[in-house]
Amino acid sequence: MTIREEKLSDAFAREALLDEAYGADRFAKTSERLREGRLPAAGLSLVAVCHGKLVGTVRLWPVTAGPARAALLLGPLAVHPEHRNRGIGATLMRRVIARARLAGHHAILLVGDAAYYERFGFTDASTGELWMPGHFQRERLLALELRPGALAGARGLIAATGQLEPKPDLNRLIAGIGSRARSASARRAA
Ligand SMILES: CC(C)(COP(=O)(O)OP(=O)(O)OC[C@H]1O[C@@H](n2cnc3c(N)ncnc32)[C@H](O)[C@@H]1OP(=O)(O)O)[C@@H](O)C(=O)NCCC(=O)NCCS
Repeated sequence: MTIREEKLSDAFAREALLDEAYGADRFAKTSERLREGRLPAAGLSLVAVCHGKLVGTVRLWPVTAGPARAALLLGPLAVHPEHRNRGIGATLMRRVIARARLAGHHAILLVGDAAYYERFGFTDASTGELWMPGHFQRERLLALELRPGALAGARGLIAATGQLEPKPDLNRLIAGIGSRARSASARRAA
């Protein structure tokens, strides 16, 4: 099993894995409101690959934990059902946390099962005054400080701060189609 950074070509397999792990209503989650239309934090999207097959994924996203307090949001974390309970989830978690720490990030937030995430040091000790931009279960809002005191006094809305996902420029696409059609008809006429 190899852990590596996610590549563009992983997109299809990763989406299939997330559908399998979380079902179609994964897009309705409030965490998704903090991810949609944004890019994940640079270098902090990892995948697990086993015999050429993508079997695990985790991403971290830039957010602010209340005003002017930079943090990361973790998720989704998923491991293929046939590959669970072999430590792949834990390896992905430990690697992505280590990378975030090395990159100088201060704290990681997530919405998830405390029974799973507490083994990596996540607790609700510093999330009591933070809010998600929609419905969430407060006891599932957890955090890990990468620097001691990073979330001390944190209060307010968790909001997305990541770079916006680039959108295709429709005018350029249409202009490109038009010029290709004109060249083709000029070639036919010649
Ligand atoms: C959660 C998930 C990523 C764990 O991946 P994994 O590779 O199986 O995890 P690991 O092998 O590192 O750890 C397995 C351990 O975690 C426990 N575990 C798994 N999901 C858990 C949960 N939701 N709550 C508590 N413990 C959990 C297992 O029982 C096992 O315990 P053990 O070590 O005492 O035997 C994987 O089960 C998954 O993709 N689930 C679907 C998404 C999901 O339900 N997420 C829930 C967390 S929000």
